[in-house]
Parts: sequence; structure tokens; C-alpha cells
Amino acid sequence: MHTDRSRRVLAHGVGLWEAASRGAAYNPLSRRVIQNPYRVYAALRRRSPVHRSTILGSWVLTRYEDVVAAARNHERFSNNPRWRGATTSVLPPAPDDYSILLMDPPDHSRLRRVAARAFTRSRLAVLGETIARTAAELVERAARQRTIDWMSEVAAPLSMRVMLTMMGLPPGDRGRWAAWVPERARLLEMIATRRERRTAHQAGDEIQRYFRALLQRRRSSDDEDAISTFARQVDAGDEISMPEACDMLSVLMIAGNETTTNLIGNGMLALLRHPEQMQRLREEPVRIQDAIDEMLRFDSPVQTDFRIAKAEVTMRERTIRPGDGVILLTGSANRDEAAFENPDAFDIARKGPRHTSFGTGVHYCIGAELARMEASTIFAEALRSTSVIRLSDEPHYRPSTVIRGLAALPVNLERK
Ligand code: HEM
Repeated sequence: MHTDRSRRVLAHGVGLWEAASRGAAYNPLSRRVIQNPYRVYAALRRRSPVHRSTILGSWVLTRYEDVVAAARNHERFSNNPRWRGATTSVLPPAPDDYSILLMDPPDHSRLRRVAARAFTRSRLAVLGETIARTAAELVERAARQRTIDWMSEVAAPLSMRVMLTMMGLPPGDRGRWAAWVPERARLLEMIATRRERRTAHQAGDEIQRYFRALLQRRRSSDDEDAISTFARQVDAGDEISMPEACDMLSVLMIAGNETTTNLIGNGMLALLRHPEQMQRLREEPVRIQDAIDEMLRFDSPVQTDFRIAKAEVTMRERTIRPGDGVILLTGSANRDEAAFENPDAFDIARKGPRHTSFGTGVHYCIGAELARMEASTIFAEALRSTSVIRLSDEPHYRPSTVIRGLAALPVNLERK
């Protein structure tokens, strides 16, 4: 069994060979790439845009045009790693995994319809109140303390509070979710150790039992929370089964926490590293929605999407065969100079095409509006209540092959 270290050494060796033979390499385990993947992405876009990665046993697409084309074409590129004939080692699914993320139409369309009932206008309005109240509380406390870790004291608690409310879970369950979310999220990794996978599966089993009990108890509840909403559907015996409902709730909890937390973290770091943009946003708060989109484009919390080719596809003279794994490097598409002017600049007034951070096509992120609400509220609140926010120590990104997020973000705040 490979340890973390031996895996990294092996990947480093393969990466050197890949760079020599193919003009560029993609080694998502490299510490340098984890801290800054954008230089490597640029080399891939230039020299090997449809890249055969030995480390990942899959193709890696890096250009905006190719990433968007593949994400839109669910007939040829499947989300289902169990698709017969799949040859990639990326993303081995749990045998009981009914995640919407790993399904194709028509099952995907059915589950997507059910999931949408947890994101109705009235539900988002209720969540909007929770977001506003929590954002005000967290910023007030942070400003009193003056020096805080923005990740653990603002970004993570906001996402967690919103998701607990959305689900209809008691605030007291925060502790177990704070442990389950990162454990279960390791299943999203392209490369994970056996121990990480074991822990992720154990967390998955516990989460299944937890949600099954709640779904059974809320079958006749009239409440609007996600658990009650899905419990009524399971009880009616149409559209969604009990295991599917458990996995849907689990995906919502993981996706709703990991990603939004990191948008709020990476976005704050972008503002801190570009003080003229932070100042502009202070002076022109109407730009908040554009600023959130630019944060998403500039340093997306999700860097990769996965697909399995269902048919032979030729892209830029390379032949992708049925069963091959295809990694869509959305983080690279967002920095493609063919799509965005001056792509490495952080510019909250940017014009141009839509970023790929919420995905494209039938799997387009169902929580996008909620994530935008959380991020815009917390940034608006933080900028309104403070006169200065500055970095108080150099932050580091956590090792991950999919999620991009900071381990901690120490900041100083001065209240207005
Ligand atoms: C900044 C925050 C977020 C980012 C960057 C993000 C990113 C993504 C991406 C890239 C996909 C598409 C995956 C694919 O094409 O295979 C996706 C799908 C999804 N996201 Fe998000 N997400 C965010 C927030 C959320 C939130 C807050 C929730 C739930 C409350 C959520 C729930 C989901 C679900 C359920 C799917 C699967 C949709 C489907 O397969 O049809 N996400 N997200």
C-alpha cells in the first residue's frame, strides 16, 4: 500500500517523465501545484491541451472551449463512473452511492426535479434571513476580536449554519457534521489513500443511518426543510427511493459546506491580495454580484469535474476512447487567455464569458444561487462594518486534487 509520501515521490517521478515526453505534466499531488496550480495549467493549455495523464490514468482538458463542450455533452461524456467499460481509476464509487453527481439522464433528471424542491423561492427567502442574521453576528464578533481566522470563525460557521437550517437539523449536530464533511469529501478526490477511502466510507455509512432515521420520523411532517420535503416524496413512493434520498441529503451537506466555505475564503484572499479591488468594492457596493463571480473565476473552490467517455471522441487530434476517464480542469478553463482578457488579473468589473466554476450543462450546480447569496451577504457585511481588513499571516492551501481551499486565513479587522 502506498503511503502519502511514497505516492508523492512516485507521482513526482512520473510527472518529470510526462513533462519530458509530452511537453507538460499535471501532478495534482505536488506541493507547488497545490499552492499555485495556475502556472501548470497555462503550460498544459499551451503545450498539451488534451493531455494524457499517466498519474491519473485519464485525459485532462484545460481549454475553456473543450471543458465547456465536454460538460455540455452528456450523451458522450457520462458522470457515472460505473458506466460499463469505464477504465479509469479516478473516483471509484461507493457501491451504495446514488449520488445525483454520479448519474446520467434519465435517472439524473428525475432526481434533479426532486432536489429542486429544496431550493424553491420561498425556501431561499427563509435561508436569506438566516444568512443575513448569521453574517451580522459573525462579523460583529470578528470585529470585536480584531484578529481572527476567517476560515474557521466566519466562512465555515456561516456555511454550516445555513446548511443545518436548510436541512432542518438542530444546531447541536454541528459538531458531528464538522467531522463528517471533510471525511466524506475525500471520496471526491482523484487520488486518496486507502485509509482516507475507508474513513470516507465509514462516514458515509453513519450519514446513511442518520438520515434514514430522520427521513422515517418526518414522513408526515408539513415542514419545508429538505429532510421533510424528501421524506414526503419517499413516503409517496414516487420519484425518489430511501437510499437515493439519503445520498441526496448527504451530497447537499457536503457540497453545501466544502464549496461555499472555500468561496468565502478564496474570495477574501483575492481581495486582500488586490487591495485596490477591495477599495473599489467598498466604494461601489453595487458591484458585489460581479465581484463574487470574479472570485469564483479567479480562484474557484472546485477545480475539476470528471467524466467518462461513452463514445470515441477526437479532440485536437487526440483520440479519446469509450471508457476513458476525462478530467475537466475548470480551474484552468477560467484562466484561459483565449476566453478571458488578461485572465490572471483579478478584476471585479470584468466583462466576458461566464466562468465554469458551477459547471455547465445538466449538472450545473443546483446550489449556485444559495452560494452566491451567502458570499455576497458576508462580503457586503464585512466591508460595511470595517474600515480595514488586512492579512496577518501567510496562508496555505489544503492538499486536495479537487477542492481548492485554505487551511486558515488569519486577518486583522478594524471596525468603522
Ligand atoms: C461556491 C460554491 C459552489 C461551487 C463552486 C459548486 C460547484 C459545483 C459544480 C462544479 C457542480 C457540477 C459538477 C459536475 O458537473 O459534475 C456542482 C453540482 C452540484 N452542486 Fe454545487 N457548488 C457550490 C455550492 C453548492 C451548494 C451551496 C450546494 C447545496 C446546498 C450545492 C449542491 C450541488 C449539487 C447537489 C450538485 C449536483 C447537481 C447535479 O448533478 O445535477 N453546491 N456544484
